[in-house]
Amino acid sequence: MKKTLLILIMTLAGAFAADVEKGKALYLEAQCQKCHLQGENFDPNSVNKAGKVSKVKDVQGIHKWVQGCDNYFSIGWFPEEQDLVSRYLNAVFYHLEK
Ligand code: HEC
Repeated sequence: MKKTLLILIMTLAGAFAADVEKGKALYLEAQCQKCHLQGENFDPNSVNKAGKVSKVKDVQGIHKWVQGCDNYFSIGWFPEEQDLVSRYLNAVFYHLEK
């Protein structure tokens, strides 16, 4: 029983890490780093404005912005891909619970 639980937890953690990796790949492929840099250096306001002041308050907010920049730059991500990118940004930069 304990072993099953452990395997379940490890599988979930593995799936989570894989999603973050996919999100990272999408992010780099779309060249978001040109303005926002990457990883923990993610710059919410991009190189155009000074200061790392984020307007995001929750995970939904990250998603809204990812969607916004996706549309604006005509990347053409599917909602699931926007979700992966949001998860990547939350994992490396925002660290928001919900
Ligand atoms: C040409 C530069 C540029 C590119 C390329 C770009 N962004 Fe942005 N992005 C901005 C600017 C500027 C803002 C801030 C707008 C504002 O505050 O009004 C922003 C805001 C954001 C925010 C909200 C930051 C916060 O915490 O307030 C997220 C998330 C984001 N972009 C994700 C992305 C993603 C994902 C991509 C790749 C598809 C991307 N951006 C590509 C310029 C860019």
